[in-house]
Amino acid sequence: MTELGTAFDFDAESPILVMEALCKNYQLGSVQLRVLREIDLTINSGEYVAIMGPSGSGKSTLLNMIGCLDRPSSGEYLLGGQSVADLDDDELSMIRGARIGFVFQSFNLIAQLNVVENIEIPMYYQGWSERDSEERARELATMVGLGDRVDHRPSELSGGQQQRVALARALSNDPLIILADEPTGNLDSQSGADILEILDRLHGEGKTLIVVTHDENIATCAERVIRLFDGRIAQEEFNKER
Ligand SMILES: Nc1ncnc2c1ncn2[C@@H]1O[C@H](COP(=O)(O)OP(=O)(O)O)[C@@H](O)[C@H]1O
Ligand SMILES: [Mg+2]
Repeated sequence: MTELGTAFDFDAESPILVMEALCKNYQLGSVQLRVLREIDLTINSGEYVAIMGPSGSGKSTLLNMIGCLDRPSSGEYLLGGQSVADLDDDELSMIRGARIGFVFQSFNLIAQLNVVENIEIPMYYQGWSERDSEERARELATMVGLGDRVDHRPSELSGGQQQRVALARALSNDPLIILADEPTGNLDSQSGADILEILDRLHGEGKTLIVVTHDENIATCAERVIRLFDGRIAQEEFNKER
């Protein structure tokens, strides 16, 4: 396993992420698409933030930028106090693996693997021993209410159960930040409510949650709602009662 060195340590004094005038462009032939325009955003450790906005407004692009799945075209991005521009691709993927958990609308589970094995994937990449990763995967399966389904494959689970596996997988490396892109988008309302409850619990445990969503229930649970329009932050609200 590669050593991360100092890039691994998040500065506890700094906000967990800071973006300044961050832009993302895509070049399509002779046309330049300006997908994110001058995004200024600071998120503190432990915050629960919902990102909303119409389809095509840049929500997924912003989340991918936050998760270092892609690099900005211009502007600053500090993650855990460190400039992402100073990190090479290996360092970025190590930070992703150790510090960030991802959840997607389409679950992205591996069909051939059962629940425990799916949850174990990130731990495998981080070099956990087989025994430890299996033990932790079973604990996480139980935590998301699937303790009696550990041997099931994704095709033998409902959508809501699959999303709970994906959430358990995202938690396996005990990340500081959980990024979810429309996690309830493919779920019925009860399954969506189950996911919300788990997110709420994680927030209570001090995780930083950043959730792209059309779901007004998530927006109500979050402490802050950021609305994107045309690649810009058009509106920001803080939910006072949280
Ligand atoms: N890799 C890409 N290449 C070119 N255009 C892209 C790429 N990814 C996203 N876009 C464009 O960027 C815009 C924002 O996309 P996206 O971030 O997925 O929006 P949202 O998640 O809010 O629906 C869309 O117009 C989309 O077509
Ligand atoms: Mg999207």
